[in-house]
Amino acid sequence: MDLTVDTAALPCVIVVFGPSGEFAKKKILPALWTMYREEVLPSNITFVGYSFVRSEMRIEMLQAILKQNCKVQAQYGKYARFLRSFLYVTGKYHEDDGFKDLNALVEGIEDKNGKPANRLFYLALPPTVFEPVTSLLKKHCMNNKGNSWSRVLIEKPFGHDTESSAKLSEHLAGLFKEEQIYRTDHYLGKEMVQNLMVLRFGNRLLGGWNRDNVASVMISFKEDFGTQGRAGYFDKSGIIRDVMQNHLMQILTLVAMEKPCSLEAEDIRNEKVKVLKSIAPVTIDDVVHGQYIANANSKHPEAAVGYLDEDGVPKDSVTPTYALAVLRVNNERWDGVPFFLRCGKGLNERKAEVRIQFREVPGDIFKNGELKRNELVIRVQPSEAVYYKMMTKTPGMGFGVDETELDLTYNDRYKGIRLPDAYERLFLEVINGSQINFVRTDELDYAWKIFTPLLKKIENEKIKPKPYSFGSRGPEEADLLMKKYGFVFTGTYKWTSPNKL
Ligand code: NDP
Ligand code: BG6
Repeated sequence: MDLTVDTAALPCVIVVFGPSGEFAKKKILPALWTMYREEVLPSNITFVGYSFVRSEMRIEMLQAILKQNCKVQAQYGKYARFLRSFLYVTGKYHEDDGFKDLNALVEGIEDKNGKPANRLFYLALPPTVFEPVTSLLKKHCMNNKGNSWSRVLIEKPFGHDTESSAKLSEHLAGLFKEEQIYRTDHYLGKEMVQNLMVLRFGNRLLGGWNRDNVASVMISFKEDFGTQGRAGYFDKSGIIRDVMQNHLMQILTLVAMEKPCSLEAEDIRNEKVKVLKSIAPVTIDDVVHGQYIANANSKHPEAAVGYLDEDGVPKDSVTPTYALAVLRVNNERWDGVPFFLRCGKGLNERKAEVRIQFREVPGDIFKNGELKRNELVIRVQPSEAVYYKMMTKTPGMGFGVDETELDLTYNDRYKGIRLPDAYERLFLEVINGSQINFVRTDELDYAWKIFTPLLKKIENEKIKPKPYSFGSRGPEEADLLMKKYGFVFTGTYKWTSPNKL
């Protein structure tokens, strides 16, 4: 989709609720600056920070936060203009006054321009204030004039189980039209996740994934750090809610869905929903959940303290920091193919990838054991790449077989290209009114239905997670479960970066 914004369009106001929160500081404010710097936003843009009055933050403090997080190294003149286009409103999240002030501010911008303004409200707020803020937004800030629009961009958590998510959806549906609601899953804004559609439906050879050729699909998310001081918050969700139910399931739907009849958001999301409807709720027997413990041999600053000893974590917490779940997509294409979803914190590396492992070549004519299973790996991060692990004749005399790869490493093939951060793409998509990479209500509902029974079982029966050392690959039981369902790891593949040859 072309993300070029009509810069001459109506004035646009982006309101960031909670600009002093860690998330806004780390992801949102830098994304806004980068988009401003790259001149991809409407030219008549105003940013507004809306902060809870208790934080007593003033515009100078917001500017200090911007300075600290935007890491400006050039274009200081432009940065000064960016700061000048940032306004600030204080108010409470439960009371009318701040929202009236916000609306007055937007109307002031409209009067100054003599044109109505488009309004994008970005909510990175704790779930406790979510309902009052959206209600007050609707009540005071969305009386659009002319053909201007108001859109609400919201962040997870979208509830913590099927019931609470449905309640939230009902609340939002009572306030906004579905086309005004943009539920982010920032993994849908990542380059390689967006690339899945092109890889699958733009290539004759790559698109033919199905039960005849594919032995298993593994979707992995690994972080080499722990909860980074947010254990108290993390303990209420755990890795299944934090990453698996949303980021990994979104990737799964893109890997497994049938070709949509067009690139329209509704056609794509209809196909994704069909995949979710074909997956039965995951059972505890098909899951390994784990919790990291201290590792005295690691130099990582977080490794000295195990999860259960972190501040805010009850000593008997069963909240997983790691999980492997085996899912089945019960349809004609995927019947019998296990989908391994794996995610964890405090592991040996940081990476996110999709790994399609193919079946053995039937009727093998080579020496026993020489052929290894092919794998197609789509590495989402770090260092975006698509590589296909395959067999070739060992170069030179003789007729040996060598395990090698076809390698599309972005840093080599697309030297010097800047891959925008996920949030940059997602903001532009909202401004352009494209919901392709946002989560629809029913997607959310079906994804929760797959995980809610499991989460309830673990929590109600206090099923203990398997311990694993901080900095390891996770609990051994996970490898055993994958092996049981047919994942083959030979350990024979060796990769040398062409840059090092
Ligand atoms: P490997 O065959 O080395 O690993 C395959 C998978 O097996 C990985 O998911 C791996 O790690 C997992 N694994 C490791 N140990 C075990 C075990 N004991 N039991 C079960 N599973 C295990 O191939 P890779 O595709 O990982 O490639 C090797 C390296 O080469 C990687 O670092 C890769 O990034 C790099 N490479 C880079 C390319 C590029 O930049 N373009 C191209 C090709 C390779 P885990 O389970 O921990 O995720
Ligand atoms: C968030 C999770 O959704 O994604 C975090 O809440 C996680 O726990 C983060 O660290 C990972 O995002 P990224 O883009 O850094 O891989």
